[in-house]
Amino acid sequence: MTTVAVVGGGVIGLSIAWRAARSGYVVTVHDPDPGSGASWVAGGMLAPLSEGWPGEGHVLELGAASLQRWPEFAALLRSGTGIDLVTSTASMTVALDAADAADLRTVAEWVQAQGHEMRVLSRAEVRDLEPSLGPRIRLGLLASAELSVDNRALVVALRRAAVDAGVRFSEAPVADLADLDADRVVLAAGSASSRLWPALPVRPVKGEILRLRMRPGATPLPERTIRGNVHGRPAYLVPRRDGLVVGATQYEAADTQVTVAGVRDLIADAEALLPAIGEYELHEASAGLRPMTPDNLPLIGRLSERVIAATGHGRNGVLLTPLTVDAVLAELSEDPLSEVKHASPQRFTEVVAQ
Ligand code: GLY
Repeated sequence: MTTVAVVGGGVIGLSIAWRAARSGYVVTVHDPDPGSGASWVAGGMLAPLSEGWPGEGHVLELGAASLQRWPEFAALLRSGTGIDLVTSTASMTVALDAADAADLRTVAEWVQAQGHEMRVLSRAEVRDLEPSLGPRIRLGLLASAELSVDNRALVVALRRAAVDAGVRFSEAPVADLADLDADRVVLAAGSASSRLWPALPVRPVKGEILRLRMRPGATPLPERTIRGNVHGRPAYLVPRRDGLVVGATQYEAADTQVTVAGVRDLIADAEALLPAIGEYELHEASAGLRPMTPDNLPLIGRLSERVIAATGHGRNGVLLTPLTVDAVLAELSEDPLSEVKHASPQRFTEVVAQ
């Protein structure tokens, strides 16, 4: 039987391990603390259409292909674990000034031209759907196909499903992929991936988020994910059953300390979108490291005959999980998935030369 070592136990690595074990591989996940990195901090917003931008066609294509797989992926996990992951359907992006409104119209036209549904909403329509949003909002975009999922419930469900499928876990740190006793290695170590494969162009990009909790008598939470540009910064509010995730700062940094400035900006930006934010409990502030690549596309595919990359998912790790899993399983059975051809690590010529 083919043995597979999955290096990295975030949502990408755990999902690959779970599904590979179900397909008959003998799988070990190598991670000192599975699920504790970027997967634990994520917002869980599955918003490839709302984040679409003209010229980033491959990013949209990959995101949309993965979003389409999410309902079946979530249903399979729920049937095995009883854990429900979806916390909201649809997302709304709002404009606070004329320049943002013009940008949103550009995005809507482009996304529609790529064959996806996205509706432009008037100020009154925005207020009608989400009455708690602020008075400065001029225009909205509604992406009805988008979802949000609870990233922490996802980690818990995947760990349980992986154990049930027979996946083994090793907490010993991996210093060199050559030390792993396995027929195939899947490198899913997020922002740490380039430590194990130095030519991989993956760099950490720090992001801070807040977790807010509902309080008795507080203004009802938005039903949908709400996104907007505030003070030139992208801000989002992602519903949870009992609160909201507010995100996210973005810095070229590799530490996970939460800064005062980060918390201040997140609160100020969230308040511009949702003035009632001050009524909720500030439950947690945390930071994680996004594994970014130079072209914002992930790295999914062969690095060598033995090693497959499943990393570099940047801001979209949770979104791209189901597609990445299908692609890695296809690689393991030597039948590559054409949907991920633009994510091949071989687009960076230095990568495969090890
Ligand atoms: N997934 C959204 C972010 O990285 O901020």
